[in-house]
Amino acid sequence: MPQPNAVKCLVVDDEPRLRRVLVRLLEGEGFTCAEAGSGTEALEMLHQEQVPLVISDLRMPQMDGVGLLREIIAKWPDTAVIVVTAVAEVESAVACLQLGALDYVAKPFHLDEVRARVMQALDKRRLKMELEDYRHNLEQRVQEQARRIEELSLERLQALVHFLEEKDPYTRGHSVRVANYSTRIAREMGLPRPVVEVITLGAELHDIGKIGVSEQVLHKEGKLSEPEYRHIMEHPVIGARILAPLMRDVPAALAIVRSHHERLDGRGFPDGLAGDQIPLEVRVVTIADSFDAMTSVRPYRPALSVQKALQELEEGKDAQFHAPAVEAFLAAFPDASALPVSTPEIQPLHLPALTPDTTHGSPASD
Ligand SMILES: [Fe+2]
Repeated sequence: MPQPNAVKCLVVDDEPRLRRVLVRLLEGEGFTCAEAGSGTEALEMLHQEQVPLVISDLRMPQMDGVGLLREIIAKWPDTAVIVVTAVAEVESAVACLQLGALDYVAKPFHLDEVRARVMQALDKRRLKMELEDYRHNLEQRVQEQARRIEELSLERLQALVHFLEEKDPYTRGHSVRVANYSTRIAREMGLPRPVVEVITLGAELHDIGKIGVSEQVLHKEGKLSEPEYRHIMEHPVIGARILAPLMRDVPAALAIVRSHHERLDGRGFPDGLAGDQIPLEVRVVTIADSFDAMTSVRPYRPALSVQKALQELEEGKDAQFHAPAVEAFLAAFPDASALPVSTPEIQPLHLPALTPDTTHGSPASD
């Protein structure tokens, strides 16, 4: 008698007598069996319910065993198929094995032989599925480890940025404050969470290229000469070059690093991008970066008042800044007396989960 959780099996043969022989044998082994008289009928049944094992005759009217086998391999690759052939059809049986059948039995068959072939086929199926499972898990684990290694490298770079900023009283805490402002703007704009995470990451690392700028120029008191200014302005390109191998999966964060000194009117650095060419993520960070720079003391000028900095953002709408992001900044910080924010605690960096939002960046216009 079939067991309640018995393995289900579909027996396909146009001869009812042969079907019954196989069904009796399999039920005797504890299988639950369904029967189909043709390939077409078998397919209909498989569409209703997938089974782990199909035993099918090769010669049948309508769809024959080979046609059925092709369909099963394409639609239900986890189903084990055993074909039943006449002795004279051994070549067809071999062709079926090449197509993906797990075994064949030749008519007239011995019941013991059928029993053994069925057990072997189910074993092969189980091993195949376990292997696929293992391969899938392994790929996922390798991918997770690779991302973790990238994260660790990013954390080291983050530490270096903070170290550099700490050494300089003029830039102390700049990156974390910019990340904080940017995150608040992005949330205020209602951007999806993966996009907000990319913005936080890019903002935190946006000035990493300053590692490659001469400290003498970086910390120079007083006004910069034209060549010195150009040297400092290489930092977005240097930063993008440093991070490119670690941020292959998050191009929008890399764009923030490379393009945070671009302007909507095309008069920015380093590529002179204009309007929609500047990704939305970048436009958000540009506002945060500019506001923090304006409200911080620089070697060559005192800090601007919050009122003056807000006015600059207003006046820079459309020419320099993305107007909706400026609005979002004002909405996120309605109380000007609470500005500028104090420097938040440094949080460990993490790469956002891979989603279409993070892998392709957001559309430039919103
Ligand atoms: Fe910068």
